Amino acid sequence: MTKKIEPAILVIFGVTGDLSRKKLLPSLYQLFKGDLLPNETSILGLTRQDLKADQIIKDVELCINEEDGVCDPKALNKIREKIEILQIDISKLGEFKKLKTALDAADKKAGKELNRLFYMSVPPKVTENITEELGRHGLNGTKSRLLIEKPFGYDYKSAKKLIKTVSKYFDENQIFRIDHYLAKETVQNILVFRKNNIFEKIWDGKNISQIRITAFEKLDIEGRKVFYEETGALRDLIQSHLLMLLAISILQIPDDLSSASLHKAKSKALGSINPVHQSELITNTVRAQYIGYKNEVENQDSNIETFAAIKLRASSKRWHNTDFVLQTGKSLDEKLTEIEIVFRPNNENEIPNKLTFRIQPQEDIKLKLFVKQPGFEEEIKSASLTLNYKTENIDVEHPDAYERVMVDAFKGDRSLFSTSEEILASWKIVDPIIKNWTSNSNNLEFYKKGSGGPDISSITNN
Ligand code: BG6
Repeated sequence: MTKKIEPAILVIFGVTGDLSRKKLLPSLYQLFKGDLLPNETSILGLTRQDLKADQIIKDVELCINEEDGVCDPKALNKIREKIEILQIDISKLGEFKKLKTALDAADKKAGKELNRLFYMSVPPKVTENITEELGRHGLNGTKSRLLIEKPFGYDYKSAKKLIKTVSKYFDENQIFRIDHYLAKETVQNILVFRKNNIFEKIWDGKNISQIRITAFEKLDIEGRKVFYEETGALRDLIQSHLLMLLAISILQIPDDLSSASLHKAKSKALGSINPVHQSELITNTVRAQYIGYKNEVENQDSNIETFAAIKLRASSKRWHNTDFVLQTGKSLDEKLTEIEIVFRPNNENEIPNKLTFRIQPQEDIKLKLFVKQPGFEEEIKSASLTLNYKTENIDVEHPDAYERVMVDAFKGDRSLFSTSEEILASWKIVDPIIKNWTSNSNNLEFYKKGSGGPDISSITNN
């Protein structure tokens, strides 16, 4: 049964930040436009700056115009009415009292105890500090939920510390770690698609030789110098989004598909993947930086990768002989997010069948088969069956990933959020690579902006 949305106040730490302006507030605008949130919902934007709500709304309008080409003044006004700004310096002791007073006043105005959603898109250290302050000020009651954007730590050790601190004050069921890839429509479709009997029967390493997950972007680091210098492509996309996509692709589908069962299955899938061994660091990984990056971040010694590709293996009986190749890069010649399932051919001369879930830029599912080339010769040709969402009439308007994330958080449904166990399992997989790449710049390659990126055939065997 779908949960109901109860009235809530959304507290945004760093309301002027990139994610808040470009993703969070525009998605709230869409939700208000579609009347998908209760009328009593309110927003409290926190910032150190002396700022008026109108200035934030102007920024949101710009973002919406850029994205949709048009902005509905009625919906914009709705969000304008709901947002208040609280000037607060969270690094100063005692400032959280102001927040407590504002939240108590909001409850009084609403005539009831509102759910409190604390949204944070801040570095892990700041998340720790905020959580401790919320706890100390008694703002961690059962009505409170934490919405945390990645990165959840910088490596296994720091993630563990962050989880420990947060769990001192909040129960796991109050914590919503956002991974917006899990909320993308095609990603949610993967589990349903896999349940088609013809596929689930052959969904294992005996029949599948490789699962390749790609997230290529045309965008560069978009001025996020400090963030990117601390993060890099491996942490930014692979440790988070791509490992979650891999988990969805290989998990044992639970019978009940409940949130708890799915999280258990996802953790088990991630836990079955072997961390890259010391001896495989060169053979199973490729990393590269686009030319011009060092100037952009004003650090000529930067050793940070803007492209990363890694090959992984699992220890489970079901998947031990399948290669998992995950690759991502910035400033490439195309925007492409997809999961390719490569089936084993009967012999090495046969063209392998391939099933591709395309997530971006457009959504489709493609099955590559081989057929006879018409004519006198017995020539074999590769052809595709494509499930086109448009022609099949299933391209109905659906919420974008951030709208889905927010609605689920308001509802208190954690199915599409990551648990602490999943986070730790994913850090464990990439930790050896992080250690090696941080201390060693030898294997860093370079590629031109707008190109196809470095050659990764050494790890894909084709
Ligand atoms: C974010 C990364 O999590 O995902 C960004 O921090 C990246 O660097 C973005 O650009 C990509 O998201 P999407 O939905 O556009 O593929």
